[in-house]
Order: sequence, then C-alpha cells, then structure tokens
Amino acid sequence: MTPVLQADALAGGYGELQVFRDITLTLASNEVLGILGPNGAGKTTLLRTLAGLQPRQAGTVNLEGRDISRTRAWQRVRAGLVMVPEGRQIIPGLSVLENLELTRASGRAGADDASFNTRVAQAWELFPRLAERRHQPGDALSGGEQQMLAIARALMMEPKALLLDEPTQGLAPIIVQELRGVLQKLAGRFAILLVEQNRAFMDGLATRSAEMRGGRLYATSR
Ligand SMILES: Nc1ncnc2c1ncn2[C@@H]1O[C@H](COP(=O)(O)OP(=O)(O)OP(=O)(O)O)[C@@H](O)[C@H]1O
Ligand SMILES: [Mg+2]
Repeated sequence: MTPVLQADALAGGYGELQVFRDITLTLASNEVLGILGPNGAGKTTLLRTLAGLQPRQAGTVNLEGRDISRTRAWQRVRAGLVMVPEGRQIIPGLSVLENLELTRASGRAGADDASFNTRVAQAWELFPRLAERRHQPGDALSGGEQQMLAIARALMMEPKALLLDEPTQGLAPIIVQELRGVLQKLAGRFAILLVEQNRAFMDGLATRSAEMRGGRLYATSR
C-alpha cells in the first residue's frame, strides 16, 4: 500500500545551518508515528519542512505517492497535509468560531455553508468545551482549550496526515489525559505524526515510535 506520507533522505535547516539530515520516514493511513527527542533536536524544523513552511535542503516529501517537495505550504494543506503548530498559534482577537472560520479560505474541504457547518458540528462534538466557548476570544481560553482549538482547526481541513508538534506542552496532567482521549478517538482515521517530549503520553497512542537526536531519526523498537 502506498504510504500517506513519505520522506526520503530529507535534510533541512536555516540558511547554511543544517539542523537535520538523512531523514527517511513512512506513515501509513492508520498509523500514529511518535517522535520523541530533547529540546533542540530538530523536531519542529522537521515538521515545518514536511509542511512546506520552510525550504528543504535535500531529499523529497511524498503525499499519497505524489512528490510534493516543490509545493507551497498552502498547497500541502489543500492536499491533506495539515500541521498543528508548536505553541498552538490561535488568533487571540478572534472568537473560537472565527478561528475555525479562517479555514474556509484554505479550500481543502468545501467552503460552502453545509459542509462547513457539518465540520463545525463535528468539532463541537469532539470538543464540547469549545462549543460552550464558541463566542469567546481565543486569548480568553486556557492553554488546554487553545490546544483543542488548534486541533479542531486542523481537523476542519480534513487531514490525510496530521502533524502534531508537542501538543501537551505546558498543560496540566488532567488536560493531558483529556487530550489523549481525543487523540485516541482520532487515531486510525488518518495518519498522525506526533512529536512529543512526554513519553508517557505517547505510550499506547503511537503505533510506532522513533527518537530524534542531533538532527537524526532513530527507529525505536516496540
Ligand atoms: N529560525 C531559526 N533560525 C536559526 N536556527 C534555528 C531557528 N529555529 C530553530 N533553530 C535551531 O535549530 C535547532 C533545532 O530547533 P527545533 O526548534 O527544530 O528543535 P526542537 O526539537 O523542536 O526543540 P524543542 O523541543 O525545544 O521544541 C536548534 O539548534 C535551534 O536553535
Ligand atoms: Mg519544537
């Protein structure tokens, strides 16, 4: 079966600086690949490079067997490669609902009212807390609620592969548990690449795991 996401000999960094190199990974449609690694290992840089938010230095990225290495970030989102960024990046002055409405412009799924409303209803079902706070501004949400909103916003794009960058960062243990429940519900619906420093969070959630150290990725046997 063609993997949903595949990277071959991928390298990336900032200008002359190489942060990671020779990264090869594949992700099947029902898999959750967990990547652990210390601060500065290059995890965010890898995800941003996969998402097309920064240029690769070498290698290729394929989505459903199609080489997307030369496409822009918005084209990758439209094709189904969606990232939930580190730090959530909620638009503070916009309400919860308005943050979701921003995704209409991405054009990944139908922007018409019926399909948009269906997806919003699915988001409320998955995150009842967001439904209650739908008219509150993004910056009035707790860290956990902001993380849920960031995930809900990504789901609006109907991902084929979802990239999650340290979703548990800074969250209280009880919220981490709640988030885990949500990801457990989503696992298997599409491919998930989960970057975390919280090993316990990943255990039982990831179907396969790897560790990033010094810009290289090492498979961890499970
Ligand atoms: N905009 C940038 N310009 C130059 N170097 C950067 C930039 N962003 C990150 N780096 C460097 O790239 C390396 C990898 O950073 P990256 O953010 O990818 O690590 P990370 O594994 O995500 O770490 P963390 O767990 O702290 O989020 C670090 O040495 C960092 O200093
Ligand atoms: Mg990071």
